[in-house]
Amino acid sequence: MKQRTCINIFIVIVILAIAVSLLVHFIHHSTKHEVSPIDTLNTKTTGTVTISNDNNVQTSTSNQSVFSNMNTSLNIGRSDFGSILLPNGHVLIAGGHFNSSTVSSGTEVYTSTGWQFAAPMKVPRGYHTVTAFANNTKVLAAGSSATSGQQTAEVYNAVNNTWALTSINMLSPHIRHTATLLANGQILIAGGYNISGGVNASNYLISTAELYINDSWTLLSTRMTHSRAFHAAVLLNDGTVLVAGGGDGTPGAYPTAEIYNATSEKFTAVGSMQYRRAAFTLTLLPSGKVLAIGGADWSSGTYPLVCELYDPVTRTWSNNAMLNYGRSYHQSVLTSSFVLTMGGTNGNNNRLNSSEKYNL
Ligand SMILES: *[C@@H]1O[C@H](CO)[C@@H](O)[C@H](O)[C@H]1NC(C)=O
Ligand SMILES: *[C@@H]1O[C@H](CO)[C@@H](O)[C@H](O)[C@H]1NC(C)=O
Ligand SMILES: *[C@@H]1O[C@H](CO)[C@@H](O)[C@H](O)[C@H]1NC(C)=O
Ligand SMILES: *[C@@H]1O[C@H](CO)[C@@H](O)[C@H](O)[C@H]1NC(C)=O
Ligand SMILES: *[C@@H]1O[C@H](CO)[C@@H](O)[C@H](O)[C@H]1NC(C)=O
Ligand SMILES: *[C@@H]1O[C@H](CO)[C@@H](O)[C@H](O)[C@H]1NC(C)=O
Ligand SMILES: *[C@@H]1O[C@H](CO)[C@@H](O)[C@H](O)[C@H]1NC(C)=O
Ligand SMILES: *[C@@H]1O[C@H](CO)[C@@H](O)[C@H](O)[C@H]1NC(C)=O
Ligand SMILES: *[C@@H]1O[C@H](CO)[C@@H](O)[C@H](O)[C@H]1NC(C)=O
Ligand SMILES: *[C@@H]1O[C@H](CO)[C@@H](O)[C@H](O)[C@H]1NC(C)=O
Repeated sequence: MKQRTCINIFIVIVILAIAVSLLVHFIHHSTKHEVSPIDTLNTKTTGTVTISNDNNVQTSTSNQSVFSNMNTSLNIGRSDFGSILLPNGHVLIAGGHFNSSTVSSGTEVYTSTGWQFAAPMKVPRGYHTVTAFANNTKVLAAGSSATSGQQTAEVYNAVNNTWALTSINMLSPHIRHTATLLANGQILIAGGYNISGGVNASNYLISTAELYINDSWTLLSTRMTHSRAFHAAVLLNDGTVLVAGGGDGTPGAYPTAEIYNATSEKFTAVGSMQYRRAAFTLTLLPSGKVLAIGGADWSSGTYPLVCELYDPVTRTWSNNAMLNYGRSYHQSVLTSSFVLTMGGTNGNNNRLNSSEKYNL
């Protein structure tokens, strides 16, 4: 009798334990995935991506060095803008969103005395690209989430500080693509969204790439191994372009990477990053390795603080320094002595005006 009561109490405890763990599991999962979807693929919205919890991922297996804070703020916090190093050593940033409703044509220049406003672009641009060419004396700004700039591109002349629209538009509208100067002087525009839709109106994400050559555009006959938007790309010392991460327009992000060979004009898969990253940056370091900084993992609703280093010899990634603040849609520029990482968003409406530096 006593034994049966014990067994009954035991069964009740087991049932209660299962019920509680199921409830905890349910609550945990219903809050963990509070990731607002990116602009739905079927609409031509220009909204922004937010992660409602700003979780930062802080675990790393490596001996970490940490980015140091810079005390010079941008005049206006911005995300999804472009940046380049000018020949005089100044950093130019252009366009982007100040908040979810304002996309800008404005620019700022970073000098030894801080950030100053500079000549605005012809049209407002967000989710566009900004690429230096012709020995950094010219800058190509291409694409935009603002209707006026979707298929257009413009060139900044660093000599007389002016912007002029290219005489010919890109073959397709692009946003959330990448633009990379190749060793032969051409600029590779890869992936992103074709916001005019094309043959498949339900699928704007593209795997195609086009080349900007002397004010004209050529579609490549080969494609990336994945359709990608919100990815990052960088030219390596061997002349290939590393393309990594990004997302597919649902709340998902990719860890995968591939390289583009400018001679064969082909894309080949390489090792994947350890974190899924979208809206992040890749910077070639003087060592020839590539630093992947920040971004968002929309799949888990987190901002990885851990940065990763790509080794072009082994074609693999390893953990590296940590950011102080989670940021996505930021920009990173290599200067003579450090990598400057600036702006972006951590999910709040007002964009970040802070910057951090990674000393070489
Ligand atoms: C990590 O690296 C720093 C600088 O190289 C060194 O001073 C420190 O001892 C290292 N820490 C560990 C746990 O290896
Ligand atoms: C910013 O940092 C520099 C170098 O660390 C320092 O010399 C300067 O006083 C700082 N400025 C402000 C406003 O904190
Ligand atoms: C967005 O930023 C612009 C420019 O700074 C400002 O005028 C506007 O009020 C802001 N809107 C919101 C919703 O914060
Ligand atoms: C670019 O700059 C380098 C070094 O200043 C110079 O040797 C080279 O001729 C320049 N190339 C062009 C295309 O202007
Ligand atoms: C700036 O320089 C470029 C190239 O030399 C020239 O085409 C353009 O007309 C100049 N713009 C102004 C406003 O002087
Ligand atoms: C652009 O045209 C100039 C003059 O014809 C040529 O020297 C240069 O190589 C061309 N650039 C590219 C990227 O083809
Ligand atoms: C983009 O869509 C347009 C039609 O709106 C189509 O002509 C073009 O081929 C598409 N481009 C790509 C790269 O998918
Ligand atoms: C159009 O996109 C949908 C959704 O991604 C895909 O299933 C379908 O295969 C695509 N069709 C074409 C012709 O590309
Ligand atoms: C790029 O492709 C060319 C031609 O196929 C090949 O000779 C070269 O080794 C490739 N470069 C790299 C870095 O793989
Ligand atoms: C930078 O952003 C912070 C937080 O929104 C704000 O308190 C600060 O005033 C901003 N700094 C500048 C220079 O706008």
